[in-house]
Amino acid sequence: MSKRVLSGIQPTHDSFHLGNYLGALTQWVELQSTHDAYYCIVDLHALTIEVDPALLRKRILASAAQLLAIGIDPKKSTLFIQSHVPAHNQLGWVFECITGFGEANRMTQFKDKSQKSGTDRTVVGLFTYPMLQAADILLYQPELVPVGEDQRQHIELTRDLAQRFNARFGDVFTVPGAHILKSTAKIMDLQEPTAKMSKSAASMAGVIELLDTPEANIKKIKSAVTDTGREVTFDEKEKPGISNLLSIFSAITGRTVKSIESDYAGKGYGDFKKDVAEVVTEALKPIRETALAYLKDESALLELLREGADRAEAVAGQTISTVYNSLGLLPRKK
Ligand code: AMP
Ligand code: TRP
Repeated sequence: MSKRVLSGIQPTHDSFHLGNYLGALTQWVELQSTHDAYYCIVDLHALTIEVDPALLRKRILASAAQLLAIGIDPKKSTLFIQSHVPAHNQLGWVFECITGFGEANRMTQFKDKSQKSGTDRTVVGLFTYPMLQAADILLYQPELVPVGEDQRQHIELTRDLAQRFNARFGDVFTVPGAHILKSTAKIMDLQEPTAKMSKSAASMAGVIELLDTPEANIKKIKSAVTDTGREVTFDEKEKPGISNLLSIFSAITGRTVKSIESDYAGKGYGDFKKDVAEVVTEALKPIRETALAYLKDESALLELLREGADRAEAVAGQTISTVYNSLGLLPRKK
């Protein structure tokens, strides 16, 4: 039996961006060939930011469509929506009851986010978010959790909770390792190449979205900020703009930065940007079209997600009943 992986992504934006895609999601696709993969759209986590119901519904569907379009294959992976499997909330509560208040208070993501919005506007769900995340993970007993560096602390907490539960109530959980995604493909904002490409950027002009039209993306790449000088060479310090475009080109084509540099020896930024735009849009075009096709047939999409939820629930249901049993909760008579 191959090792199990589990990861999750929040449906908080209309489209995933090139950073999500090259930094994380392409690895999800790779891992499904070698691992028993569980991928979860964590819609309940998305309730910790302000909710617009119509928009949330649209974004959950768009997230599923994009994951399928980039190549998450429902025959290889179990792709599902968190709220379709109630065991996530059930185990989340159990973890809230074995997590210390101080321990939860030390989570840097909570501290950052709550500081930004102030205590009155910070919801309790943001505080308990990491315990729900631990439940997402431990329900499926994965060996590996592929996530970005920013999630390291949440995975550490997850490991602590698994060990704590096992020590107090019996050996129920596999203690997972983080599989911190290599930062080789850290994609920067095209307008501000010293900042990570991010969904929360002040302007979308430097953010390439998977669902954007090819025309829009070509325009964004052609207007990418470049640096003084005219050589296409990789130098993150002196030439962050060109270096970012080289990283993108390399990540998409699988070619080394060196070989791309040598192709552009003696040519200018203009030629290079034109080719980056072409490579990116050629890669994203089929993804966008496939995602839009999935979105056109909502009932087929929901059916795929139902099958995923059924498979996920079979695993999660077993874990939660073992957990309840270990805690001394009485089983309901059959
Ligand atoms: P987020 O929703 O921003 O937390 O991102 C979801 C996933 O995409 C995480 O695993 C991140 O590590 C990855 N990611 C986000 N932005 C970038 C970026 N600019 N470059 C590389 N990976 C990214
Ligand atoms: N907190 C993660 C993020 O912001 C999303 C997430 C929720 C997750 N549950 C998870 C990631 C379980 C991995 C496994 O990126």
